[in-house]
Amino acid sequence: TGDTTFDVGFANTAACRSAITYIDGDEGILRYRGYPIEQLAEKSTFLEVAYLVLYGELPTRDQADEFEDRIKRSSLLDERMRDLFRCFPRRSHPMPVLSAGIMALSTFNSDSTSVSDPDQIETATINLLGKAPTFAAYGYKNSMGQPMLYPKNDLSYIENFMRLSFGLPTEMYEPDPKVTRALDTLFILHADHEQNCSTSTVRLVGSSQADIYTSVASGVNALSGPRHGGANQQVLEMLQRIQADGGDADKFVERIKNREEGARLMGFGHRVYKNYDPRAAIVKQHADQILSESEHHDALLDIALRLEEIALSDDFFKERRLYPNVDFYTGLLYQAIGFPTNMFTVLFALGRLPGWIAHWREQNADPASKIGRPRQIYIGETERDFVDIDKR
Ligand code: CMC
Repeated sequence: TGDTTFDVGFANTAACRSAITYIDGDEGILRYRGYPIEQLAEKSTFLEVAYLVLYGELPTRDQADEFEDRIKRSSLLDERMRDLFRCFPRRSHPMPVLSAGIMALSTFNSDSTSVSDPDQIETATINLLGKAPTFAAYGYKNSMGQPMLYPKNDLSYIENFMRLSFGLPTEMYEPDPKVTRALDTLFILHADHEQNCSTSTVRLVGSSQADIYTSVASGVNALSGPRHGGANQQVLEMLQRIQADGGDADKFVERIKNREEGARLMGFGHRVYKNYDPRAAIVKQHADQILSESEHHDALLDIALRLEEIALSDDFFKERRLYPNVDFYTGLLYQAIGFPTNMFTVLFALGRLPGWIAHWREQNADPASKIGRPRQIYIGETERDFVDIDKR
């Protein structure tokens, strides 16, 4: 087929140049703009990391304050958008609700959908970062049948999101600082991951010069699947099934190896990491800290630790170089924070937002970028003549 290269799942195809995130999958290294993920997770905040991912440098104090201020001021929704969130059925999965919210945002902000005006691109960036947590919380409130609160600008980004999700108009809500810090760290760990499925989707959609809102909503949709962001929900449901079945992790792993229990150990394996996912190592530390405290102690953590222990010493997993990925321990933390399982992938999306936007902007600013248009190897019928409908 001429110069077409066959590469299922783009496992070996680099489709762009990017200066945002570096991964060495064999060594388990992840850096945003050159900074190791371990340092950022320990010392930075999500908004600071969002700034870094988007603009290339860590912000000065003034830049950080100004960025945070702009984001907070854009967290409020048009009242008619608030009504939109009341229309979804209570049982709706919050991922399509988030995606629909982002598409609706583009209709309320048609004056920031230009792909060539830097001010409009900046407005859309801030709009998305400011409003996505409000969408996520309103989707949750709608599913609970609870009133939707207004954002409060004297709270931090994460505190505000926690209050919008868990607060009630009749009660004071004070988030636990340890939990707030854990959620902030989880968002940092998710902020970007180079050309993963959802980011490649954002780029592919954006390559047609679709606006940021439309491209990012497509990223949310791509993230929802169980092989990608949807895995964090699946991991917790898997741990719950093991627990309900008597808690025997060894038996479960045997069933996975015999391809009896679905085909996969959810939260294990990665296209790029053939070593321990550095994000999983950080999440595991936080899970250990938060979940071992008596108030949050969770028997599911014991099952997860045992599953990991078995898998890491088992030839099936060793031969295939399958290690825990970021989704393996995050669900346990999200659950301890109080989120229902179907919100887990939404939390991943909130964390990934800076990455999606940064990739859209990087591609949009690149004069060498082209519309994405993969080729195929045709395996269908050769030429044949049309048969009239009465003769088929
Ligand atoms: N459990 C059991 N076997 C597995 C697993 C798993 N989790 N993952 C891969 N394998 C096996 C697979 O069956 C295949 O074996 P064989 O050669 O005998 O057929 C081999 O390992 C290679 O698998 P692959 O499908 O070619 O690997 P991939 O790079 O296409 O898939 C993956 C990567 C992440 C989709 C896959 O490992 C998977 O489905 N994992 C479970 C879902 C999951 O945790 N996803 C989250 C990924 S990290 C964060 C994110 O992106 O959201």
